[in-house]
Amino acid sequence: MLSLPEKFLSANAGGGVIQDTASSASLCALLAARERVTNFASNRHGCNGKLVAYTSTQAHSSIEKDVQIAGIGRDNLRFIEVDEKFAMRPDALATQIDRDRKAGRVPCFVSATVGTTSSNAIDPVREIGEICREQGIWLHVDAAMSGTAAVCPEFRWIHDGLEFADSYCFNPHKWMFTNFDCDCFYVADRAALIKTLSVLPEYLRNKATESGAVIDYRDWHIPLGRRFRALKLWFVIRHYGVNGLRYHVRQHVQLAQQFASWVDADPDFEIAARAPLNLVCFRHRAGDDVNQAILDRVNQSGDLFFTHTRLNDRLTLRLCVGQTRTELRHVERAWARIREEAHRWRVSEPGATAAELK
Ligand SMILES: Cc1ncc(COP(=O)(O)O)c(C=O)c1O
Repeated sequence: MLSLPEKFLSANAGGGVIQDTASSASLCALLAARERVTNFASNRHGCNGKLVAYTSTQAHSSIEKDVQIAGIGRDNLRFIEVDEKFAMRPDALATQIDRDRKAGRVPCFVSATVGTTSSNAIDPVREIGEICREQGIWLHVDAAMSGTAAVCPEFRWIHDGLEFADSYCFNPHKWMFTNFDCDCFYVADRAALIKTLSVLPEYLRNKATESGAVIDYRDWHIPLGRRFRALKLWFVIRHYGVNGLRYHVRQHVQLAQQFASWVDADPDFEIAARAPLNLVCFRHRAGDDVNQAILDRVNQSGDLFFTHTRLNDRLTLRLCVGQTRTELRHVERAWARIREEAHRWRVSEPGATAAELK
């Protein structure tokens, strides 16, 4: 459905597994990367403090958490600078890797993001992938929300260069109408992952495993037991069909783009980062106070709920269209409520004009 690279298929050396969340998937990727680079020595002896991981300043906080859990150490996570679109700069990545190697460190893992949390930025996976391949570094691609867009052929550009990735994940629980939790995690070399995570006590030995007749997914993630998440995802796919999923994704992108056009047309507001898909980052031009007031008042009203971020150190409002039943009328109403609160804030300011106070 997403037209992912063939190497992720179990018919080849790769494979996929459903996990709970993107945080867990990227942790598994990081662990496999750590083992691959140390020739599986860190599983035995622990980390020596020399391994280094890389992600952009805009990456999700789960990468930082994973680095802590995996014993890489937060000081050994490099946050690579981004360009004006908030996408990772491959040149800055290459420079940092070089600097680390010269300092005797061992670069082992890069996490690129397709659709960053704050602004939906798409890291240049191809250029990053070329660097990783040349350097022998594990490339993980986190497409937690935006990966779903690839069900539509016209949005598959977001995955350009994915053939360079060692692992990839996206969350049907974010934008594929599936109840939390459900993350699809793929690896190009399942042997590296399995070798990293498998432990075989006597009570788990069985003929099916020994004969190779079954895939033991306990070796593909942290927990031993697993929920039957495939069932709900299967029913979502059966219910909508590929064309149905495409229809909704296109609708959401179109609604978000429409919202962005209203922001563009309003002299009081501005777009903070051009939306490639279904997330619109915008702000009132009058500064952080008014944006905070709009956010608080709208959210307190219960009419809609939206979240904020900071882009270029300015408070930024974010509207995301991704829920199953969101229609044009909801987005129109959201925009009307946002403008209403902006207007209220303005008339409550000491400098408001008589016309505004009416
Ligand atoms: C880009 C990205 N990666 C990872 C995550 C973490 O997702 P999860 O809750 O599945 O761990 C998020 C959540 O917002 C995200 O936006």
